[in-house]
Amino acid sequence: MNDSIRQYVTDNRETHLNELKEFLKIPSISAISQYKGDVRKAAEWTAESLKKAGMENVEVIDTPGHPVVYGDWLKAEGKPTVLIYGHYDVQPVDPLELWETPPFEPSIRNEKLYARGASDDKGQVFIHVKAMEAILKAEGTLPVNVKFCIEGEEEIGSPNLDPFVEEMKEKLAADVLVISDTPMLEKGKPAICTGLRGLCSLQIDVKGAKGDLHSGLYGGAVQNSLHALIQLLASMRNEDGQITIDGFYDRVKALSPEEKEAFQKLDQSEEKLKEELEVSELFGEKGFTALERTWVRPTLEINGVYGGFQGEGVKTVIPSEAHAKITCRLVPDQDPEEIVALIEKHIEKYTPPGVTVTTTRHDSGRPFATPIDHPALQAAAKSYEAVYGTPAVYTRMGGSIPVVETFNRIMGLPVVLMGFGLPTENFHAPNEHFHLENYDKGLLTLCHYWFELEAVMKR
Ligand code: BES
Ligand code: MN
Ligand code: MN
Repeated sequence: MNDSIRQYVTDNRETHLNELKEFLKIPSISAISQYKGDVRKAAEWTAESLKKAGMENVEVIDTPGHPVVYGDWLKAEGKPTVLIYGHYDVQPVDPLELWETPPFEPSIRNEKLYARGASDDKGQVFIHVKAMEAILKAEGTLPVNVKFCIEGEEEIGSPNLDPFVEEMKEKLAADVLVISDTPMLEKGKPAICTGLRGLCSLQIDVKGAKGDLHSGLYGGAVQNSLHALIQLLASMRNEDGQITIDGFYDRVKALSPEEKEAFQKLDQSEEKLKEELEVSELFGEKGFTALERTWVRPTLEINGVYGGFQGEGVKTVIPSEAHAKITCRLVPDQDPEEIVALIEKHIEKYTPPGVTVTTTRHDSGRPFATPIDHPALQAAAKSYEAVYGTPAVYTRMGGSIPVVETFNRIMGLPVVLMGFGLPTENFHAPNEHFHLENYDKGLLTLCHYWFELEAVMKR
């Protein structure tokens, strides 16, 4: 990589950080309809920044939901084409009172940039744009062809992106897909993520008597909807942390001894994790390490339970209704539709007497895993090493980016998940932030990467 590129990045650092702050000021919360206009504003902002970077054919493409932003630069004849995916939407910000500075008023403290979306994923999208801008401005050309596809519905499960990819697969055609939306292993330890978990989700609604009842008049005569729900939920997991839904583990691929060893070599301390999370003990499926349980084992979690009396004091009531929201993290080769069906079957079988249960399916996404030997992954490892001075490790991750599997399946693309976030940067939580160290190094790593990629993927 040429010094002029580095120079451009250094000279414009202040300006670029201010631009990123403008991006972060837009409350592009995809989940809340009230922010629909702001989500579009963020899309338009993204489009403008692509144009400014020198991208061509920039478009804000409408979908039945929030728009997708596209832009390309395709003048590197005979060179590989990279598709860069990311998301400009962000998670809701509640609880607002726990933010030290407001979520949409970006501020820098201790070399960290605080704002909703700073790390997940606006900050990481931004360094991709600026890496291309830096190379183009410094050299007048790029070592690869590039297509950006930045969406606005990732945080709600990308409901419209699968059909979008299907429809646009010619327009999006590329040799490799590159995404920065995953954390590094820890500070100073870059990681290339080789697998993500999938997801399925279910809302459970329990109905007992026609309305709330006086527990003196009717207690002992009818089923209590909350008891019934709790009994039902309790039947889904045993004391050893195993999910007791019939068939749940049937398609789960066992971890190979090599993978097991590779995980051990990452030397992640469970003791440290315990302290960090302030729990008395870690917990999960028996027979697996915490790392294995979060990366390559499936889970079922209750995300919320509500119903009955919530006010001050006592109310002698038998609640008529009870509700729960559950999600499962899935691993290869589990299928979200199949798992949801198994859960529904379980619910039918184990519903306690005296109530009716209805279920509603929500978001889903398939799990994904890739071998580490693709040259595009190896080139990523090399680029990290050039900038961070330490080789990148190969990890899996427990989070989900639903469209990754879609790109891989529909377009047959190899996927490089090279992230610059940190697991401690409060993704989805109050005080989300992005370490400026990784903003700077990430930007340079990406600049390096496009040259490395050109070298290894020469056609
Ligand atoms: N960037 C995350 C995905 C992620 C987080 C990958 C941590 C690896 C480690 C992404 O924005 C995200 O939050 N995805 C959601 C998807 C869901 C809403 C369908 C998730 O994982 O909960
Ligand atoms: Mn993300
Ligand atoms: Mn997220």
